[in-house]
Amino acid sequence: MPPIRQVTLYLALFLCLSSTAEGSSKSAEIIPMLGCRACHQLNGKGGQLGPNLSGIGQRMTRRDLRQKLMAQNEANVERHMPSYHYLFESERQQLLDSLEQQ
Ligand code: HEC
Repeated sequence: MPPIRQVTLYLALFLCLSSTAEGSSKSAEIIPMLGCRACHQLNGKGGQLGPNLSGIGQRMTRRDLRQKLMAQNEANVERHMPSYHYLFESERQQLLDSLEQQ
């Protein structure tokens, strides 16, 4: 199994084990788990390399957000936004749900 798949599997397992009866807490945890704040500010916390993600749900459509996360082109690499194309579809949906609520 490629290492990246293994990491994703552990992530999925962790998400399952750490989920509570309250469904929304699951999607709220995915942003810290994926480390988006290493480069992005969100609600006043995080790095400065990328644009502030506060209110991103109002500025970008779900379709555009999905494209941004999936992009694997050169421009994406040069500009340091990593690609999250390796996520499972269920994780991607959780991440998009969570971003839409920002
Ligand atoms: C290594 C640094 C880094 C990490 C980690 C990172 N990003 Fe980014 N991100 C960037 C940079 C730099 C840009 C601006 C350049 C671009 O748009 O590609 C960006 C752009 C974006 C944009 C477009 C914002 C806008 O206003 O145009 C979104 C949405 C985004 N990132 C979401 C995320 C999410 C969600 C995560 C975590 C899953 C994440 N990023 C992780 C560096 C990062």
